[in-house]
Amino acid sequence: MLPINTKKELLKKLNSLLENHTIGLVPTMGALHLGHASLIKRALSENDKVVVSIFVNPTQFNNQEDLIKYPKTLDEDMALIKAISSEIIVFTPKITEIYDNATVSKSYAFNGLEKVMEGAFRSGHFNGVATIVEALFDLIKPTRAYFGEKDFQQLCIIQKLTELQKIRVDIIGCPIVREPNGLAMSSRNERLNTLLRQKASFIYETLQAAKQKFGTENAHKIKGWVEYIFRKHTDFKLEYFEITDVATLTPIQQKIKNTKYRAFIAVFADDLRLIDNIALN
Ligand code: PAF
Repeated sequence: MLPINTKKELLKKLNSLLENHTIGLVPTMGALHLGHASLIKRALSENDKVVVSIFVNPTQFNNQEDLIKYPKTLDEDMALIKAISSEIIVFTPKITEIYDNATVSKSYAFNGLEKVMEGAFRSGHFNGVATIVEALFDLIKPTRAYFGEKDFQQLCIIQKLTELQKIRVDIIGCPIVREPNGLAMSSRNERLNTLLRQKASFIYETLQAAKQKFGTENAHKIKGWVEYIFRKHTDFKLEYFEITDVATLTPIQQKIKNTKYRAFIAVFADDLRLIDNIALN
């Protein structure tokens, strides 16, 4: 089982499939973990063929150091995929296969979804994500594509991308997979030292406490409480904590009946940035 590096080879493989074959796509940037494994297994259970793409997309990194330090573990990734199924197609394009002349992203507007939280703190990030995801959709024409809810804002933006660009694909959001202490699985967790990785349970504990408080307290008070406990914490620096309406991702003003809310958090542990979120109702 060898990865496919070129669009030409990938298309040859896809064109050889039966006409009505359904294709499940799991786009990744590699450094695969159990969260990715859960997406791949779900894709396998719902489609005739599964494609996993592994491409560290430069245009979605607003911080060059983060790009340089992003873990690259192709051998381990291939082993993880093979252990799930040796029938999976793995696509590992070079930058020049995806970006023709210049490694730049397209520019999109997603009805304001791109302006808050990750969009506000990571300039250009969602343009980069949408550019690579649209390119993969265009090339592979998947029936379904699978994304983790850990990047919930990304999931909303990709859903919006398919509406705006009229791309026929079902976007499937999959639950967050957590480490035993509650830390949301992420390729970046490998860069935490053992002690910080243990202590990072604080992030999910805070989200769980916020969820409990949401039953009785107003969002403004909860936000103040989260900011307060992080000010006291010596290991983690809070970048943002927001409670938003799930449909628009706009910060809540006051609770409205029959509206779904979610809490989102971004935290620095040394120079490493961790994000997480939780459904509140
Ligand atoms: O979530 C990710 O790993 C990336 O943002 C994605 C969707 C693979 C695009 O590069």
